Amino acid sequence: MSYSIEPLKDRDVEEAAALFKKTAMKIPYYTKKALLGYAAENTPTELRRKMKLKNHMMHVAKHNRKIIGLDFGHTEYGVGVSDWMLIDSAHRHKGVGMRLFSNFEKKCYSMGCHKLQLDDRTNNKEDVYFCLKRGFKIEGILKRHWFGQDYYLWSKYIR
Ligand SMILES: CC(C)(COP(=O)(O)OP(=O)(O)OC[C@H]1O[C@@H](n2cnc3c(N)ncnc32)[C@H](O)[C@@H]1OP(=O)(O)O)[C@@H](O)C(=O)NCCC(=O)NCCS
Repeated sequence: MSYSIEPLKDRDVEEAAALFKKTAMKIPYYTKKALLGYAAENTPTELRRKMKLKNHMMHVAKHNRKIIGLDFGHTEYGVGVSDWMLIDSAHRHKGVGMRLFSNFEKKCYSMGCHKLQLDDRTNNKEDVYFCLKRGFKIEGILKRHWFGQDYYLWSKYIR
């Protein structure tokens, strides 16, 4: 399957927010309350606000001009933080997530970051395998954390 990785553009924001809402609401590892909270942070208005911030990196994967994956992250004092990675369910397990994340890692490196950080639900098995495959290590467990749920805090040193 051929697809491109590109920065999120203003004209694609509605489609990206729709993919986020459609796909995120089906992730089985979060409570409904949590998913509604995350959806509220990824509306077109919110995405446009973040796009203007210098420390935010927002990329999409496109296949046949349609967005099939999203990767949103930002940098904080030398740490690249992966906020959300989400692949359309019809296109998972084909390496799209790996390519999007590799793009994020390279951008963080070129921006001078020494470390990457992300979190996920402790029972999100696809993402746990994904993090291990990308060389992340569990730095800690955040118990009863966001929306009262347990999260792994993952990290990887890149320099
Ligand atoms: C986690 C996610 C982003 C992975 O994206 P993807 O494009 O399917 O991942 P890739 O095809 O690049 O797979 C990379 C590696 O991840 C692991 N992986 C991905 N899906 C997996 C699955 N269903 N079962 C086991 N391992 C899996 C594997 O190690 C895989 O390597 P392999 O194909 O050589 O075995 C995707 O499952 C997703 O969008 N999930 C819903 C959103 C989410 O939970 N995001 C994480 C929190 S932000």
